[in-house]
Amino acid sequence: MSGKTNASHLLIKGLILLLLAAGQRAANAKEGMWIPATLKAHEQDMKSLGLQIPVDVLYNENGTGLNNAVVLFGRGCTGEIISPQGLILTNHHCGYGSVQGLSTTENDYFANGFFAQSQKDELPVAGLTVTFIRRMENVTERILDGIVDTMRDAGRDSLIARRIRATEEDFKEKTHMDAMIKPYFDGNQYWVAIAETYRDIRLVGFPPNGIGAFGGDVENWIWPRHTGDFSMFRVYAGADNKPADYSKSNKPYRTEQYFKINVSGYKENDFTTVYGFPGTTVENISSFELKQVYSITDPIAIAARTKKLDVWTTHMGWSRETFLKYTSKRAGVANGWKKWQGEVAGLKVNDATGKKQKFEAAFQKWADTAKRYPYAKTLLGEIKKLAETVYPLITQDQYNKEAALGVELIAQASAMEKMIACFRQPYTEKELQDTLTKLVNGMAGFYKNYDAATDKDAFMVLMDMYLKNSGDWLPVYYKTQYEMHLKDMATWAGDVYGNSLLASKDKLAAFAARAKKEDSAQLINDAAWQLYNSMNTTRKMQISPVLKDYYSNMRYLNRLYTKAQIAMNKTKTYYPDANLTLRVAYGQVKGLDPDGPPKYSFQTTLGEVIALDDTASDIFKVPKKLKELYAQKDFGRWGVKGTVPVAFTASNHTSGGNSGSPVLNAKGELIGTNFDRAYEGTMSDYYFDPNRCRNISVDIRYTLFVVEKFGGAGWLIDEMKIVK
Ligand code: ARG
Ligand code: GLU
Repeated sequence: MSGKTNASHLLIKGLILLLLAAGQRAANAKEGMWIPATLKAHEQDMKSLGLQIPVDVLYNENGTGLNNAVVLFGRGCTGEIISPQGLILTNHHCGYGSVQGLSTTENDYFANGFFAQSQKDELPVAGLTVTFIRRMENVTERILDGIVDTMRDAGRDSLIARRIRATEEDFKEKTHMDAMIKPYFDGNQYWVAIAETYRDIRLVGFPPNGIGAFGGDVENWIWPRHTGDFSMFRVYAGADNKPADYSKSNKPYRTEQYFKINVSGYKENDFTTVYGFPGTTVENISSFELKQVYSITDPIAIAARTKKLDVWTTHMGWSRETFLKYTSKRAGVANGWKKWQGEVAGLKVNDATGKKQKFEAAFQKWADTAKRYPYAKTLLGEIKKLAETVYPLITQDQYNKEAALGVELIAQASAMEKMIACFRQPYTEKELQDTLTKLVNGMAGFYKNYDAATDKDAFMVLMDMYLKNSGDWLPVYYKTQYEMHLKDMATWAGDVYGNSLLASKDKLAAFAARAKKEDSAQLINDAAWQLYNSMNTTRKMQISPVLKDYYSNMRYLNRLYTKAQIAMNKTKTYYPDANLTLRVAYGQVKGLDPDGPPKYSFQTTLGEVIALDDTASDIFKVPKKLKELYAQKDFGRWGVKGTVPVAFTASNHTSGGNSGSPVLNAKGELIGTNFDRAYEGTMSDYYFDPNRCRNISVDIRYTLFVVEKFGGAGWLIDEMKIVK
């Protein structure tokens, strides 16, 4: 080879490396969920992707930031304020549980939808709250002052807990609001969130399942997607505009921080942000812990839930009453079930383990000579050893959770502990009966949504799984009962559900009303209690203590591992794992093309919904009125080229909890509501791949079309600020 070609060779090699690095930076730009108060550091990157406003419009310290228009909705969703009168937009599936409490066979909002025709019609939802995050502040120095990294967690935890409490009290006093401090970066940082929680929340709009849950579990976690997954609520406040208990005299919450709505659409590669409360991600763990996920906990949960869902679905098809009891529960069980299947597949396709191992080799090399991090050298060895010792325990614990406790009767039997304890009290007979009755009444929520015949069939398949997989961990009681019933599941189940007091609310209530001191044996010998108690005793004595130690030690090691990774990787900006605190993710509108063509477009339309209509199907049946509107092309202001955009995908890094999150354009205006991720990318909780990870959102134009034309609630649109 001549000198000249050699040089140009080097040049090309250099260029390729540069290109690769640039590609990587672009990819990094989309991974991540950032603390809003740190957005300044990303302003340049966000602008280079298309952001057109200063980041302090999204978040600032003086109360005018758009963070004041994003709420934690209930316990695990996000919502956004879209009018100066506290109107909240969130997902249909986030409002589902609330609506279940308001819905009856006569007033079936799942079948018919609900749209208030004026503020007077809005329905209070007992127990529902929304939380605003007014401000966040890094309090790491106060919390970790003087604590060395290698201090073990036992002493460290109690010291930190005390400091957290004191610091929260300080902030509460100063701000007259709530203050919540949480760890970030596996305990290497602490941030306080100054918050206000409103507790008078009312239902405003909820499309029928034929729109809001269209495609059901078949389309769940799938792109292309056709679900109008939205619902609307309203925040009510006391006379001072502050949080107040429900009262007729409360007024809609007044605010100047709400999202303007942009209805002029978007193109592929347009800039987007998602603002919300992602729940849990675990991006920086070792390959040894990742293995627990894809080879133990995910597969067991998938297998157990496959069996349970088959049974539930069958029973729900037989009776509308069972359907109404189980529909919300079923959605929850099925949701994890499918996500984990995508996760296992995605981790495998991406060879996430291989990539982690490669990283671990590089880490080890760095750690061997990292003088400022002397503990780093042995970290991976310790993590490996620790993780591997618990594989069998994690396996059994997952069978306990998903198979044994997957049976509702067995899970619910934990509540009998309190009843049994009553017999040990020096109560009079009347006191005993009153206390027991109170406890039974406390189970009303469980029985409202319980069908013993359905659960009995679930028992048969899940017990079979539990018996076959528990090996030496199988509690003696299970073994002997199974044998006593001649190893026949149906006989065993018939006996349990025929005789257990817990299987029937009436029997249990009658028992409580007439219980005498000497009746305690009836509870103690109850089959449901015995099943729960024998499993739980093994768990409590032999499994949980070991796992508790394990998690505590692993938390310690992971805190150090995360710190060392950040120290090693100076060119990468790390983001803290999701912890149900307010975050901003940014990315671009993008179709999905994981392995080459066919590439799915980034958008679906109402025409596609209509084409999927199947009147014989529970989940693909398009409501008659929606079909009429489509046939008449009666789309109001919301139509585009003879149809209405329904859903779209983008490359924002989101997770569970981001449901209901506002999706914003380059100007910070609302273009959609996030509600899901694509199957190909659900592994993003552990590993983010910009080619496969897509968040899915309802297009705001579909939402407004359904509200106005389907729900006849155009008065709501008059409250909003629509821009083009
Ligand atoms: N997968 C979405 C999420 O994680 C939507 C779940 C509700 N929909 C359903 N078909 N289960 O919450
Ligand atoms: N549907 C999810 C939720 O309830 C959001 C989708 C996701 O996990 O990304 O939060």
